[in-house]
Amino acid sequence: MMHISPGWYPAINSRRSRRNYEKGRPIGAEALNRLHEVCSGFRPYGSVRVEFIDEPPDDIFANALGFYGNIKGAPAFLAFIGDTSDPHMQEKVGYAGEAAVLESTSLGLGTCWVALTYNARAVKSLVKLDKEEKLICVSPVGYTTEQWSFEEKVFSGFGSNHQRKPLPSMVSGQPETSWPVWAKSAVEAARLAPSAMNRQPWGFRVEERSITVYVKDRGPEFNVARRLDCGIAMLHLELGALIRGVSGEWEPLKQPQVARFTVR
Ligand SMILES: Cc1cc2nc3c(=O)[nH]c(=O)nc-3n(C[C@H](O)[C@H](O)[C@H](O)COP(=O)(O)O)c2cc1C
Repeated sequence: MMHISPGWYPAINSRRSRRNYEKGRPIGAEALNRLHEVCSGFRPYGSVRVEFIDEPPDDIFANALGFYGNIKGAPAFLAFIGDTSDPHMQEKVGYAGEAAVLESTSLGLGTCWVALTYNARAVKSLVKLDKEEKLICVSPVGYTTEQWSFEEKVFSGFGSNHQRKPLPSMVSGQPETSWPVWAKSAVEAARLAPSAMNRQPWGFRVEERSITVYVKDRGPEFNVARRLDCGIAMLHLELGALIRGVSGEWEPLKQPQVARFTVR
């Protein structure tokens, strides 16, 4: 079994959602092996899994009109799958899925969490789902074209910085001046997590030895659970703490809270 890797931390800052791929450029053998290894080895929760498909047919993101949504030319993809009988499945999918995303980023590959605009039927013909399982999201994986599409520029603030709400608007609890070093690093990393429509629905309550993640924004879900976004932020948060030498444990909580990270 593979554990959370501090090697994923630098990818938090360099990752951006990418939508245009070099279709003709295959992913190198070493990167392919590593991605298969992470998807099969990093299984922190029994109720979720990430499948890496490196030879998909053309119609995952492309339909008869050329493309589904806005993803073009992806040579491979990740499928994020969860067991619907687990009430905490959504955040677990976010957490485990983001590990594969950050690993891809470290390997120089582009990704983009995609919730709606893909051909789910084509994916399900490649990935067999158990009775209780549901396909939650996918992500293209591949080398990206140099040129950013218009949407990429808009979504990413024209490539220059992460478009995120200011940190104080998402953190409560102890005043910033008394946050331990690990906690500041943790919430800063969590703030950079991707979320559907960049809605950043999370709140973080910092206490002496813990950080509680909760759903702050109660607007419409647009068919994507805000707890999924929070799960992505949880992996970032844990990596931010880990890089400061602090590891901890997650305790699942009832809605609208998601989970609490407590220093070990
Ligand atoms: C759960 C989830 C679903 C998403 N769905 C889509 C999607 O369907 N299409 C798309 O183009 N981007 C999608 N995104 C990407 C977000 O728009 C993007 O993460 C956000 O704008 C922040 O930009 P960044 O990832 O470059 O930091 C999704 C992101 C998440 C986390």
